[in-house]
Amino acid sequence: MALNMPGSQFIKISFYFILSSFLLACEPPTFNQKEYDWKIPEGFPKPLVPSDNPMSTAKVALGKRLFFDVGLSFNQSISCASCHQPQFAFSEPQKTAIGASGQRHRRNTQSLVNVAYNSNLTWAHSGLNQIEQQILIPMFSENPVELGITGHESKVLQRFKNQSYSRLFKHAFDDGGVDFDKIVKALASYVRSLTSFTSPFDEYAYQSNDAAISDAAKRGMELFFSEKLACFHCHGEFNFTQSSQHENQRLDLQPFHNTGLYNIDNKGAYPVYDEGLIEATLDPYDMGKFRVPTLRNVEVSAPYMHDGSFATLEEVIEFYAAGGRTQGISSPLKSPFLVGFELKSGQKQDLVIFLQSLTDRQFLN
Ligand code: HEC
Ligand code: HEC
Repeated sequence: MALNMPGSQFIKISFYFILSSFLLACEPPTFNQKEYDWKIPEGFPKPLVPSDNPMSTAKVALGKRLFFDVGLSFNQSISCASCHQPQFAFSEPQKTAIGASGQRHRRNTQSLVNVAYNSNLTWAHSGLNQIEQQILIPMFSENPVELGITGHESKVLQRFKNQSYSRLFKHAFDDGGVDFDKIVKALASYVRSLTSFTSPFDEYAYQSNDAAISDAAKRGMELFFSEKLACFHCHGEFNFTQSSQHENQRLDLQPFHNTGLYNIDNKGAYPVYDEGLIEATLDPYDMGKFRVPTLRNVEVSAPYMHDGSFATLEEVIEFYAAGGRTQGISSPLKSPFLVGFELKSGQKQDLVIFLQSLTDRQFLN
């Protein structure tokens, strides 16, 4: 495993994991902390869960109700699910998101698929590692406004202080009191519960059912895993992303890359309104780097990329074949994996059909 980090950071992270497994081991059992049934097929690892927010069926049920409740936005206009819509793999068919006040977000709504495994959250942040932290952004951010709770805290909380919610809070936690800490923990548990492992590809690759995917999908799979196309180098492992952490892999690989979408100044610059990882690290080499997204259910999560700038999978493949987009092709900051390639007739379609075999109908319903 390549460890691209200074020694001290490595020691700090190892210490953190030793500490957190220690805490996990010593934590006294809390109310309703039953062994949670992840429904993850055999052979796949279980995600790591923070010791102060163990999974429970009751918490997931409360989180689900909250996720779909417009009461969570300051003006009762949108819920988490307005942007993260189940039939689109919990993303939405819009280039970029629009918040409760009508303000446009600079980024495309991410799909929520196996997020429990993501070691870095959002499109480009190396310091955002826990779903509980991340959820505070859509709830409280003032620029851009998503749910817009800031300044309306007591009004919003009041909406959940009723009999039916109190019962759910009581089931999920040891008392029926309503506060933002519990709301965040329940939402995070629900997001963690959104796991997808029952696509035709899974049936083919992990259940040894040869007939689960077509010959075209198999040809596309070979292209995907070939050195020529190199897709698998970045969209790797069972989740088709390098940003994975689970019971068998506690340290992260390098999950951020510049794919040559932009190169405004011939030195690799991205548009000032969204320069990627550099905003978090201030390291000039992180200009234009974004997190490798999972490709599970990618068929239904169009449009694509952090800014939603490709409408179809065909466009994405043409972009990779060209080795970037317009000036991006000659970007000095582009990943060395993106050299471009030529496809014979029918191969683009095969690759699309392979990507479509990652659609998990059971998950979308
Ligand atoms: C206005 C639309 C909108 C709303 C409402 C919204 N989100 Fe998001 N969500 C986004 C966008 C856009 C991103 C990507 C943000 C970024 O990269 O800066 C995102 C990212 C995420 C992620 C990170 C996923 C990953 O793989 O890293 C999670 C988790 C998430 N949202 C959960 C929620 C929850 C829970 C709620 C409700 C409390 C919510 N979102 C409300 C648009 C929205
Ligand atoms: C160097 C690493 C790398 C390689 C190689 C790579 N990708 Fe990607 N891929 C990324 C990153 C990073 C993004 C997000 C870029 C952004 O939004 O700026 C992405 C985005 C995508 C998306 C859009 C997903 C979404 O939810 O928006 C698709 C589809 C995709 N890649 C497919 C492929 C295919 C097919 C190949 C092989 C031809 C490939 N990728 C090769 C890193 C890579």
